[in-house]
Amino acid sequence: MKWLAAQKGHNVVGIDIVDLSAQQFFAENNVPFNKYTIDDDFFVYESTENAIKIKFFVGDIFDVSAQSAGYFDAVWDCNALVAIKPPDRNKYICKIDSLLKPSGCILLSTYEYDPTLHNTDPYPMTPDDIKLLFSSFYVQLVETMDASEYFNFKFPWSKRHVFQIKRK
Ligand SMILES: C[S@@+](CC[C@H](N)C(=O)[O-])C[C@H]1O[C@@H](n2cnc3c(N)ncnc32)[C@H](O)[C@@H]1O
Repeated sequence: MKWLAAQKGHNVVGIDIVDLSAQQFFAENNVPFNKYTIDDDFFVYESTENAIKIKFFVGDIFDVSAQSAGYFDAVWDCNALVAIKPPDRNKYICKIDSLLKPSGCILLSTYEYDPTLHNTDPYPMTPDDIKLLFSSFYVQLVETMDASEYFNFKFPWSKRHVFQIKRK
């Protein structure tokens, strides 16, 4: 996020339901900030560094609206869909769709591993699961990496997939 804002000059908005995520982001990246509330739904941590335009919303993604956060050219879903409970996945995709500009695109990273070993956050998903979930979009699998060392559980095989997703 800091690279996108500081090096690339983008206006960046982050979101997490856990306040500590925002606190850690600003502390680890040494970015000064103001903290305020919007609509009683969100705390917003906003960078006060002119050259680093970052807002970090703390609240439920399902409560974010284009009115409060704007419309986005791109969404970087970095292990976020994988944290959403499977029954809520379609609702999550509708929410992302509602925040994305018509020409917008999504970069998505997911994990695939044996679901009999662990079937909770981060939930495992195959590339076919992603294609089905985003069936109204073009989905391109960009990269697959070994992720067997990622989890503390050290699953015997696991993969990290990265997808580029665009509107049809
Ligand atoms: C696997 S972590 C990924 C965190 C971060 N994006 C990263 O890659 O390090 C998933 C994150 O999703 C957040 N999360 C889960 N459900 C959420 C929701 N409904 N709204 C906003 N954030 C949520 C969790 O608090 C958690 O920090």
